[in-house]
Amino acid sequence: MKKRTLTGYRPTGKLHLGHWFGNLQNMLEMQDEFDAYCFIADYHALTTNWQHTENIRQFTEDMVLDWVAAGLDPEKCTIYRQSDIPQVVELMLMYTMVLPMSWLERTPSYKEQREQITDKDLSNVGFFLYPALQAADITIVRADCVPVGEDQAPHLELTREIVRRFNSTYGDYLIEPKSVIPEDGARVPGTDGRKMSKSYDNSIYISDSPEEITKTVMGFMTDPARKLKTDPGDPDICPLHQIHKLIADEETIQQWDSECRNAEIGCVAHKRAVAEELCAYLAPFQERRAELAAIPGFAQEVLEAGKKKVFPLAEETVENCRRLVGL
Ligand code: TRP
Repeated sequence: MKKRTLTGYRPTGKLHLGHWFGNLQNMLEMQDEFDAYCFIADYHALTTNWQHTENIRQFTEDMVLDWVAAGLDPEKCTIYRQSDIPQVVELMLMYTMVLPMSWLERTPSYKEQREQITDKDLSNVGFFLYPALQAADITIVRADCVPVGEDQAPHLELTREIVRRFNSTYGDYLIEPKSVIPEDGARVPGTDGRKMSKSYDNSIYISDSPEEITKTVMGFMTDPARKLKTDPGDPDICPLHQIHKLIADEETIQQWDSECRNAEIGCVAHKRAVAEELCAYLAPFQERRAELAAIPGFAQEVLEAGKKKVFPLAEETVENCRRLVGL
């Protein structure tokens, strides 16, 4: 029996290189070895965007196209929409019984986002509960492992704690999922050297046109101490180098690395080269995506097939939990 893996994305718009290298490439590798599930977390999108829900459906379909064009094979990796499986909400409600409020209060992402996101009203209960919903997402398909970025690791830990408490209260049934934090590519820097993130406005989107990609890459931060081409640079602290490493072979990187250290080549020339290579790297994905987008109803069909597969599995999990809880 193959182990089961699961990942979820919020349908909040376009995917950037942080998603691509931080998680998607990992899922592509895992889909052969694992019984893989990828879902679009539309309830999660509601928790922070409950005032603006008009794009969620469109973004959900866009996500399906992105995933399949990137190489997720719906035959190997079940792709579904969270809200097509309402059992997940029922499971979450059962979890809220064994879940102390203090566990949610101390969730790092909760504290952080309440402090940092000021343009949205996040005083709603839905946002507060979101880690419990994530626990239900993971356990409803009885996932063995979840590839996550570092920022999601505390949610995985919380999931494990909920599972332990549920099992010790009602009977050993739920599986404690393991988190897999991908080693390379987990941290993809944006133009300003911070983690690439939509909310930092520092991202290269995988569907950007060559012009947009070039413009963004030309604005990338490099070694801040390197003012002139004649100054030697330090590739280890240069975000442009980190991006380049993700798409180029060892030999090419070695060459740029030494030319930078020896002040033989300037940052502008390096940016031009990275921009060009990045456009070429993304071109096959973008062509494939355009082909899929031209097939009427493609995304809907993928989601429908995914729903058919996950629904009975989810119902089985929740039915067992209902019985264990004593309902
Ligand atoms: N919380 C994740 C994010 O913000 C998305 C997500 C929801 C998820 N449920 C999940 C990821 C379950 C992995 C497993 O990116």
